[in-house]
Amino acid sequence: MLPKKVEEILNVQIEKEDYSSQLYLSMATWAENKGFEGVSNWLYSQAEEERIHMLKLVKYVNERDGVAVIPGIKKPPADFQDIFVAFDQVLAHEKYISGSINEIVAVCIAENDYTTQSWIQWFVNEQIEEESSVKAIIDKLNLLGKNNLYMFDRDIMSMRGGGTATSE
Ligand code: FEO
Repeated sequence: MLPKKVEEILNVQIEKEDYSSQLYLSMATWAENKGFEGVSNWLYSQAEEERIHMLKLVKYVNERDGVAVIPGIKKPPADFQDIFVAFDQVLAHEKYISGSINEIVAVCIAENDYTTQSWIQWFVNEQIEEESSVKAIIDKLNLLGKNNLYMFDRDIMSMRGGGTATSE
């Protein structure tokens, strides 16, 4: 049985993962309409992954005799200044999500819920990976500069999830 506070914060996280998925989906269509095929594929894959994260939380809450609450859809921004700003926003968003996961760990410890504390480690590790892959993209983007965006767009195809709209 989940402690009430753990159930509540996991439901908040369900909403955040759902929003992450919507945000990346919105960025993906924006990039697609700007002609960035590689970037949009990467973002479509990322949107799928966030949905998987949300489902993982939903199933866990229900399995532990909690009640997972499916949130309403919050409209993400539809326009992004440019590719540089968009990826800075992705990184800022992932840092925000990492902070949320840390808060969940803190609540688990306060509530003596060592089962969820152990389970949520998957998300802790996932956030390390996500932040580092976005940082690698930003490094590459800065290295190539705004005159080589076509090359960057080709290059991102070979990065995680870049080539096809699959998720892990
Ligand atoms: Fe599910 Fe990218 O955080």
